[in-house]
Amino acid sequence: MIGKIDEQWGFGTKLLNEGAYFDRETTNPEALPIHMSTAHNVNDLEDLERRYEVGGYCYNRNRNPNRTALNELMNCLEGGAASISCSSGMAAISTALIANTKAGDHILSDQTLYGETIEIFEDILSKYQVETTFADFTDLDDVRSKIKDNTVILYTETVSNPLIGVPDISAAAEIAHENGAILIVDNTFMTGAQVQPLKLGADIVVNSLTKFANGHSDAVCGAATGSEELIRKMYNLQVLLGTQADPFSSWLVCRGIRTLNLRVKRQSENAAALAAALEKSPYVKKVFHPSLADHPQHDIAEREFGPYYGGMLSFEVDEDRDKMNLFLRSMNLAHYAMTLGGYRTTLSYPPLSSHSNVPEEERKAMGISNGLLRVSVGIEEEQDIIHDFLNALEAAYGEK
Ligand SMILES: Cc1ncc(COP(=O)(O)O)c(C=O)c1O
Repeated sequence: MIGKIDEQWGFGTKLLNEGAYFDRETTNPEALPIHMSTAHNVNDLEDLERRYEVGGYCYNRNRNPNRTALNELMNCLEGGAASISCSSGMAAISTALIANTKAGDHILSDQTLYGETIEIFEDILSKYQVETTFADFTDLDDVRSKIKDNTVILYTETVSNPLIGVPDISAAAEIAHENGAILIVDNTFMTGAQVQPLKLGADIVVNSLTKFANGHSDAVCGAATGSEELIRKMYNLQVLLGTQADPFSSWLVCRGIRTLNLRVKRQSENAAALAAALEKSPYVKKVFHPSLADHPQHDIAEREFGPYYGGMLSFEVDEDRDKMNLFLRSMNLAHYAMTLGGYRTTLSYPPLSSHSNVPEEERKAMGISNGLLRVSVGIEEEQDIIHDFLNALEAAYGEK
């Protein structure tokens, strides 16, 4: 039987096997251990065949206990039947798109997406004769008018980056289904703790778990969630492409999601308070932060998130580069970081990060000016965040 140490083995053999197997009471630990193993031993060929049948553990690229744990947690978070956990948000997005398209297909996508998702459409899928058209998903007539006979996917984000636009997911799902297409929604900014697109009619929800879901800025990870049938298709592709999440990241993200409900509530409340304070600042031209009252289709009131939601906001200041630099250098608590969704407040500058590959004219037409700053609000004490921003604005833009 596997795991029995033979006293006759030589020293070198013993070094390889001693301590590798336990027959003590090691099951049911309070926290799931990290299963850092490329493979699981099988007892014999019957055991191997049985594992194939029941989806047991053999090789890490196919299955790993930490990934299973994360898949199950994602099913709960997004209200789906099945999930795959991926090496990044981009891995989840690309696996979902490739698994559901073939040459000659058409995708209708929202026009204000995470920049690298747009690159997947324009630079990767186009090479395989999958064409993408962009529409304004907050304008359903625009969406309807751009559907084609060969449209197989409608693609949007629950809250678009960085201007925080909010499309009507239920209506987009209806349009997709009337036309024989599926709706894929990127829920990274909201997470299933605030909006569950699958419950609103979406077929697949993708997440960058790197952001709010994990919330600790220490793991890159992603997931796709949907029906058993759609996820089986993506799982089969994932095994071939190797886009699976590693055990340690899966473990970290499970740890992070345990406190998601508490974090997003606090982040949303802090973001609403900061948005209100920035609105009053004479140095801020415009603040972008959605109000639940404007989007009744995202009825999350039952989750007690108050009148505003989402930890993301953007605001526009004077485009003067020197003043913007002085503002950033004057921030004490919040720091510039090319990520979002962590427990600390961070800032980024879309023209040089998420939208750096979008030509300036196009970017400006999307409403992303050279004075736009994006904020991911953390779980600090509300008055400390507000003080930090108002202080830095005064230092950079106030009368000298
Ligand atoms: C909305 C959105 N989707 C997807 C991604 C990609 O996620 P990852 O960096 O985990 O690949 C990001 C990254 O910022 C994002 O903001």
